[in-house]
Amino acid sequence: MTSIPTITLNNGVAMPQIGFGVFQVPNDETAAAVAAALDAGYRSIDTAAIYGNEEGVGRAIADSGLDRGDLFITSKVWNSDQGYDETLAAFHASLDKLGLDYLDLYLIHWPAPARNTYVESWRALETLYTEGRIKAIGVSNFLPEHLEQILAAGTVVPAVNQVELHPTLQQRGIQSFNVAHGIATEAWSPLAQGALLDDATVLDIAAAHGVAPAQVVLRWHLQQDRIIIPKSVTPARIQQNLDLFGFELTDAELAALDALENDGRTGPHPAEFNG
Ligand SMILES: NC(=O)c1ccc[n+]([C@@H]2O[C@H](COP(=O)([O-])OP(=O)(O)OC[C@H]3O[C@@H](n4cnc5c(N)ncnc54)[C@H](OP(=O)(O)O)[C@@H]3O)[C@@H](O)[C@H]2O)c1
Repeated sequence: MTSIPTITLNNGVAMPQIGFGVFQVPNDETAAAVAAALDAGYRSIDTAAIYGNEEGVGRAIADSGLDRGDLFITSKVWNSDQGYDETLAAFHASLDKLGLDYLDLYLIHWPAPARNTYVESWRALETLYTEGRIKAIGVSNFLPEHLEQILAAGTVVPAVNQVELHPTLQQRGIQSFNVAHGIATEAWSPLAQGALLDDATVLDIAAAHGVAPAQVVLRWHLQQDRIIIPKSVTPARIQQNLDLFGFELTDAELAALDALENDGRTGPHPAEFNG
C-alpha cells in the first residue's frame, strides 16, 4: 500500500498530503466511496456540513476498524452557520453526524464577506481548538484581505487555507501570502473537476510517462508541496489518484503545466460569494 507523505502544519500536526474529497457524493453513496478510499490507503477525508454526507463518512469510519488516531478528518462550517454561537453549534452537529469526538481539521468554508461574521466564527474555532476538540483550525476560500482580518483579531494563525487550485487557476498571490504567514495551501478541485484531463499538454506529458492525465495534474501539485484532496467515486480512479510516486515531472513539464493558467475557475469567486 502506498505510504502517503505528510505536511507538517504550523502547530506541528502532520496532515497527509493526499486526502479524499467527497463533494457532490450523495450521503447514501458516501460510505462505499470512503470505504474504497480507506481500502486504497487514504487516511485523510475532506467533507463539509453543506455536502450533506457527514453521516456517510462517519459510517465508513466506524465500519473500517481503523484506529481513530490513524485518520485525519476535516469538516467545514457553512456560511449560514457563521457567528460565534452558531459555529459552536454547527461544529457539534458535524461531530454528531460523523460519530466522532474530535476533528483533525475544521475550516470556515467561505469568508462570505457580506455577512461580516467570519471573525466571530474564527473566535469559535479558537475556543474549540483550545478545548482540544480540533487538532488544527483553518479557513477555506480566504483571500489575503480576509486572512488579514483573522490575523489581526485572532490569537491562532490558521493552519490551512483550502482554495480552488489547479493548472488553470494557480492562485499565486494567495499561495505567496499563505507561505509568508506559515499557512499550508490545500488545493480543492485539484483536477479542475476533470476539465483538464483532455488538455493536449496534459495528454502529452501523460503519454511521455505512461501515466494517466489525472496523475500528471496531481503530481504537478505534489512537486509544489501542496495538499490535495481529489474526489472520485470510481474505485480504479481512487487508487490511481494515490499512485503518484513512480514518476517525476521535469522542470520543463512543470513549466508547461504552469503555462495553462487562464484564471479559469470551476467555483464562485470568494469576494462575491455569500450564499
Ligand atoms: N472548500 C471548498 O469550497 C471546496 C469546493 C469544492 C471542492 N472541495 C473539496 O475538494 C474535493 C475535490 O474537488 P472536486 O470534487 O470539486 O473535484 P476534483 O477532485 O478536481 O475532480 C473530481 C472529478 O474528476 C473525476 N476524476 C477523479 N479522478 C479521476 C481520474 N483519475 N481520472 C479521470 N477522472 C477523474 C471525478 O469523477 P468520478 O467521481 O466520476 O470518478 C470527478 O468528476 C471535493 O470533493 C471537496 O472535498 C472544497
